[in-house]
Amino acid sequence: MAAFNLNTPFFNHRKVLSSIKIGTAPVVALPMLPQTLPDSTAFTINNTLSTRKPVDKKDIVNNTGGKFGKFGGKYVPETLITSLARLEAEFNLVLHDSEFQEELTTALRDYVGRETPLYFAQRLTNHYKNSEGEGPEIYLKREDLNHGGAHKINNAIAQAMIAKRMGRKSIVAATGAGQHGVATAAACAKLSLDCTIFMGATDMEKQASNVLLMKHLGAEVEAVDGTFKDASSEAIRAWVGNLETRYYLAGTAVGPHPCPSMVREFQSIIGKETRKQGMEKWGGRPDILVACIGSGSNALGLFHEFIKDEDVRLIGVEAAGFGLDSGKHAATLTRGDVGVYHGAMSYLLQDEEGQILGPHSIGVGLEYPGVGPEVSFLKETGRAEFHTATDEEAVAAYLRLCHLEGIFPALEASHALAFLEKLCPTLPNGTKVVVNISGHGDKDAAIVFQYQLDRLSD
Ligand SMILES: Cc1ncc(COP(=O)(O)O)c(C=O)c1O
Repeated sequence: MAAFNLNTPFFNHRKVLSSIKIGTAPVVALPMLPQTLPDSTAFTINNTLSTRKPVDKKDIVNNTGGKFGKFGGKYVPETLITSLARLEAEFNLVLHDSEFQEELTTALRDYVGRETPLYFAQRLTNHYKNSEGEGPEIYLKREDLNHGGAHKINNAIAQAMIAKRMGRKSIVAATGAGQHGVATAAACAKLSLDCTIFMGATDMEKQASNVLLMKHLGAEVEAVDGTFKDASSEAIRAWVGNLETRYYLAGTAVGPHPCPSMVREFQSIIGKETRKQGMEKWGGRPDILVACIGSGSNALGLFHEFIKDEDVRLIGVEAAGFGLDSGKHAATLTRGDVGVYHGAMSYLLQDEEGQILGPHSIGVGLEYPGVGPEVSFLKETGRAEFHTATDEEAVAAYLRLCHLEGIFPALEASHALAFLEKLCPTLPNGTKVVVNISGHGDKDAAIVFQYQLDRLSD
């Protein structure tokens, strides 16, 4: 079953309805759908969307018009089409503009602190050796060492530069864990742009230190009833209300084209560096890449460079929360169906009626009911594999890395580390495994502590 969520403002009913059927009746005209339906309003459509078509793998790399197979697109009201087209034109320009590229390279080096190390985790490697002393070699891509503490700044700084070139004065963004909010606030301070960050009220409580930091960096933080998905809707509304002067700075690889492609492009530095560093360290490519999946930006950042190298295994790890059967998880690719949400087609967590389901994860940055179109396509084609880790497994992996390596990963990244428990015993000796440490975890310390207390009192 597929669902079309009419979550305002990203829904182009004409585009969607002309190409699909609701039930058995072809939909030819429903021209007057209101554009301000409640957040949970959705159409459930039994149609042919879930039928697998043969997919051309070159689409994965050379996508056209923001479509990855059937995923992606621009399901938005007509009023937004011009703004998105302008953004796309500017994005295409900067990709080939040497002045922009030089400025970005300098900012990534001197401001963000790139390149980030590819660290050989000797003690973690030893931990996974079998009784014969054999096992894979584990390397950590240290995105936690970026300015601000996560991969989010790679994209935030580049998009803030684009906003400035387009003459925009103010930036709006949504954040869940707060990392994208901090990265955006920092980029705006550096480039002298006004910044408003929308954040779910409960997330603000959980990530209070990030909220303070955003304020120190000069951002206004607007509390939204709900979580990250609600904050995203609010940020988009704020942008749509003032398209000429505001810029919506997408923090992950979701939304209408060109947002997912832009975010992926600016994060793909992670994989490019990994390829170079692998050559320097062991003279070859990694065998396996592992990253957590919230909506897909850190995973695509690592994977994209290697998509054509079919011998490199790509593994995404989603949040199983309290367990896949508990109904409290964020395993969108593992348990979701295809639908349209926030302007693009992708996998979504939705109920039988196509209502969006609230996701859960101890890693707040993984709590989104959708996932990006390109990641959805990697699932569809089988190019990447997707697994899950529970809250409990993520906390254990967080503490393991603290104890063994003195590194405190974000709880989001701890999901990727948790999967090593299942993966490593199956791997031949010397397999080169790279795990993306998408952020650092000091902000999570209180959550881990509380989690342990709750377990003790169970
Ligand atoms: C440290 C960290 N890792 C991962 C994520 C998940 O996002 P994505 O899948 O876009 O990388 C987030 C989101 O906030 C994050 O803060």
